[in-house]
Amino acid sequence: MRSRPYGYPILSLQDQLSSFDNHIERRLSSLCNKFSDEKAFQTLLVSGDPIIYEVYESCRPEAAGELASGLSIVHPGRVGQEYFMTKGHYHKVRDTAEVYYCIQGKGVLLMENESGDTAVEELHPGRVVYVTPRWAHRSINTGGQDLVTFFVYPANAGHDYATIDATGFRKRLLDHDGVPTIVDNHQRSECSG
Ligand code: PA5
Ligand code: NI
Repeated sequence: MRSRPYGYPILSLQDQLSSFDNHIERRLSSLCNKFSDEKAFQTLLVSGDPIIYEVYESCRPEAAGELASGLSIVHPGRVGQEYFMTKGHYHKVRDTAEVYYCIQGKGVLLMENESGDTAVEELHPGRVVYVTPRWAHRSINTGGQDLVTFFVYPANAGHDYATIDATGFRKRLLDHDGVPTIVDNHQRSECSG
């Protein structure tokens, strides 16, 4: 772990990858029950379990005052009508924010809070999305190339995947005749609000 100030490139994909401490690959099989079309999910799984997204992390100690940062790369594609997307999560330490800066591609950040509110913010190159504390967030690629975003958040925030695993997001983003369209998630259990 570096103890002096440091920099790393994020605009040239070739140069940047060796600058990170950690690389995560999420394949379709790790996104079980996330997509609405189970038949399309199984078909794609059998055809080779593609990588849906990757994360490159610049790790820091999980201590207050430190910032974790890195790149999220969501590949283009769909499961049925639903665009490739990240799992999505709340931060374990709820009162922690996050900033996303889009470098390449096209998509949205789908967000919701535990009071029942939803927010959708566009991602395209040069655009920043500020995720306020207490909002779950998921990146969704609606374009034809990789959606690449730079993220930074308090290193002690942690990831709470269990809450979203249990209920799903309230909304989904589907392709309707080439138009990304927000719809209700009918599979979300009634009692989860
Ligand atoms: O901390 C973040 O919000 C990002 O680094 C995400 O972890 C990244 O985009 C991958 O998404 P997820 O953690 O929901 O799988
Ligand atoms: Ni986060």
